[in-house]
Amino acid sequence: MDGDNDLCVLQRRLAEAGQSHLLQFWEELNAEEQQELFLELQDMNLEELGQAFQQAMMNSSQLVGKENVDAKMEPVPRDVLGSTTRDRAQLPLWEEEGLRQISQNKVAVLLLAGGQGTRLGVSYPKGMYDVGLPSHKTLFQIQAERILKLQQLAEEQHGLQCVIPWYIMTSGRTMESTKEFFLKHKYFGLKKENVVFFQQGMLPAMDFDGKILLEEKGKVSMSPDGNGGLYRALGTHRIVEDMEQRHVGCIHVYCVDNILVKVADPRFIGFCVQKGADCGAKVVEKTNPTEPVGVVCRVDGVYQVVEYSEISLATAQKRSHDGRLLFNAGNIANHYFTMEFLKNVVSIYEPQLQHHVAQKKIPYVDAATGKPLNPDKPNGIKMEKFVFDIFQFAKKFVVYEVLREDEFSPLKNADSQNGKDNPTTARHALMSLHHRWVLNAGGHFVDENGTRLPAIPCCTNGRSDAIQADVNHNLKDANDLPIQCEISPLVSYGGEGLEEFVKDKEFHAPLVIDRNGVHELMKNGV
Ligand code: UD1
Repeated sequence: MDGDNDLCVLQRRLAEAGQSHLLQFWEELNAEEQQELFLELQDMNLEELGQAFQQAMMNSSQLVGKENVDAKMEPVPRDVLGSTTRDRAQLPLWEEEGLRQISQNKVAVLLLAGGQGTRLGVSYPKGMYDVGLPSHKTLFQIQAERILKLQQLAEEQHGLQCVIPWYIMTSGRTMESTKEFFLKHKYFGLKKENVVFFQQGMLPAMDFDGKILLEEKGKVSMSPDGNGGLYRALGTHRIVEDMEQRHVGCIHVYCVDNILVKVADPRFIGFCVQKGADCGAKVVEKTNPTEPVGVVCRVDGVYQVVEYSEISLATAQKRSHDGRLLFNAGNIANHYFTMEFLKNVVSIYEPQLQHHVAQKKIPYVDAATGKPLNPDKPNGIKMEKFVFDIFQFAKKFVVYEVLREDEFSPLKNADSQNGKDNPTTARHALMSLHHRWVLNAGGHFVDENGTRLPAIPCCTNGRSDAIQADVNHNLKDANDLPIQCEISPLVSYGGEGLEEFVKDKEFHAPLVIDRNGVHELMKNGV
């Protein structure tokens, strides 16, 4: 701050924007606090914020009549849909295409990791969470190792050394700890120059009249601008240029919390490439109307996700004649974009994206008393852009349906909440999947008496060729225990290559297969 003059300019700008109250405790702050507040406020585009507030409130008041959107919703038509179960014959072709793209260094992955993990209730980034697997790997490590394995698979198939660059979007609140964690763990074996961190923007919380809230006397209440803040951040931090320099052709964007995420899934990439799509979304069948997943659909003929918070119960419950939910394309936040499409979004469409509004209980400083207050009912709003709001700009949009038990188990809540999508369900989902991989590769599990444990065969969706122990389906809740089995991503990306370890062999759980071999933990007394 360059003295009184600068302060006067700021005061005038705030007055014009109706935000003068932000300096109301100025005289009580020490020099350092004054400096910090000054810089924070000086950087804010108050005019843009005011407009965003007006627009967001208008949209959300229209949403109160959710029927407006509901009445216009149509399910995804069959011709844009690919499926791992209905299109089984195509899978090897899509996989080959995807691996070819990867081997030519054309595929990048982008992780959305700027969320605050409020529901999980930890103070550190969610990717650093250890769900309690035998290996105690964190979500970041699991994802890093999948990237390493995929690079190796693509290299083996095409004889070309390749790199899948990993872009990681953090927020002001998660950047430092995320970077430190990667440094401490030597980037989990990846090359440092191929892991690129960048930071999304932050927006202030406002009361229902558009007044910005103070969290402390000298601190504005700020939070990340939503995972759709991605597009502005890609421009601001010149990430698009970085991608172009690396000759990236397409990007797989995904969320940090899904323990089963198939990072840079070659089948999904190959499917999108072969369909000539510029934008694609991976979905699982939504079977429960109240499940907190958005649904991919068309509204007024345009593709979009109607978020779980924005659909009415009556519409979510609608069923088609086969008994399935009418809107069943459950968004698992795995998206495909071509470079060309992403460039257009960043340079042309981003400003057109509207903010979504969430009413929240936001801790604030009382204007009259200067005391910090924790409201017990919503007292204001947070504005966020959503990553999928760019589907509307796609020239060719496709949807790829996968099996939930193979690819989707998000970590949203703490175990103590005793619900779903918690560390226990995530751990169980991964071990159930790996259990099935062992059975599919010809291995068996035995109990302490040496009796083979039954693999419950299940032919879901015509998959009669695979042995399906379908453990996930049989787990009623987090207290049902699956067979403990963990396979390192460095050994297998998607269940391939396990025969040499397990075929015609019998194992006692817990079983761990990693690069050092096969470990029966109880037997070895580990
Ligand atoms: C998200 C999807 C929802 C989908 C569900 C599946 C969005 C907007 N919604 O919902 O349609 O069915 O996942 O699990 O994508 N994040 C940021 N910056 C932010 C906020 C979030 O990077 O400002 C990241 C988080 O770190 C996380 C991801 O975005 O990786 C999803 O955020 P979260 O708040 O968990 O989304 P959901 O409400 O679960």
